[in-house]
Amino acid sequence: MGARRKFVAGNWKMHGMAGSLSELQLIAAAADASKSVDVALCVPSTLIARAADAAPTLPIGAQDCHQAEHGAHTGCVSAAMLAEVGARLTIVGHSERRQDQQESNADIKAKAEAAHAAGLSVILCCGETEAQRDAGQAIARVTAQIAESMPDDASADWLTIAYEPIWAIGTGRVPQTSDVAEMHGAIRVKLRDLIGEEADAMRILYGGSMNGGNAAELLAVSDVDGGLVGGASLSADKFVPIIEAAASAS
Ligand code: PGA
Repeated sequence: MGARRKFVAGNWKMHGMAGSLSELQLIAAAADASKSVDVALCVPSTLIARAADAAPTLPIGAQDCHQAEHGAHTGCVSAAMLAEVGARLTIVGHSERRQDQQESNADIKAKAEAAHAAGLSVILCCGETEAQRDAGQAIARVTAQIAESMPDDASADWLTIAYEPIWAIGTGRVPQTSDVAEMHGAIRVKLRDLIGEEADAMRILYGGSMNGGNAAELLAVSDVDGGLVGGASLSADKFVPIIEAAASAS
């Protein structure tokens, strides 16, 4: 197996209007320049078509999809609809959706399968709460989430894991690098259980308050194959240094 290429994905969450497309183009230019790193940007679904037009070389993603192809699901968007307007990937199972929309592991597995069927790559999120970490349950929780939400036929060419400790998201707090190494190592072992040798090709991103100041250190941790970046992906000023840190770590 070759070395895993570093992968940095931005998650704009519910941020971004047409006026943000110039920022997205600056990010795309930096992504084009750093040939050793894969970069993607997951934008609000309202912006996908325009983002894909504005930055044709940058893979544009969604942040969720519905598990059904179509149907009576008011307000929802299917994976095929996202693909049709230019999405090349989608996040599924983000902790904000697990919490705000009560998404279960079974829902997330169905969404990942639907996304793959529609030709989208998938970033599958997992992560523990602070209470679970304090209780010594972090690894058990996260590996159970993966076992229950990752499709049985998952492979590295279309699925990436993102480990995001919930208490680190948007808080400015990041885990000790030793804790990140322990978790990513445990995820790798779990992936080997689930999908065998394919596990060694699958990328495991770290997410939660990654920024230009801490990216180099986090990306140097063993089994950290990139980052899922929220707040610091909103501007090129903040996001490009993370892309550069990933290039240096490659
Ligand atoms: P953050 O968000 O980088 O703002 O902490 C990460 C995420 O939720 O994907």
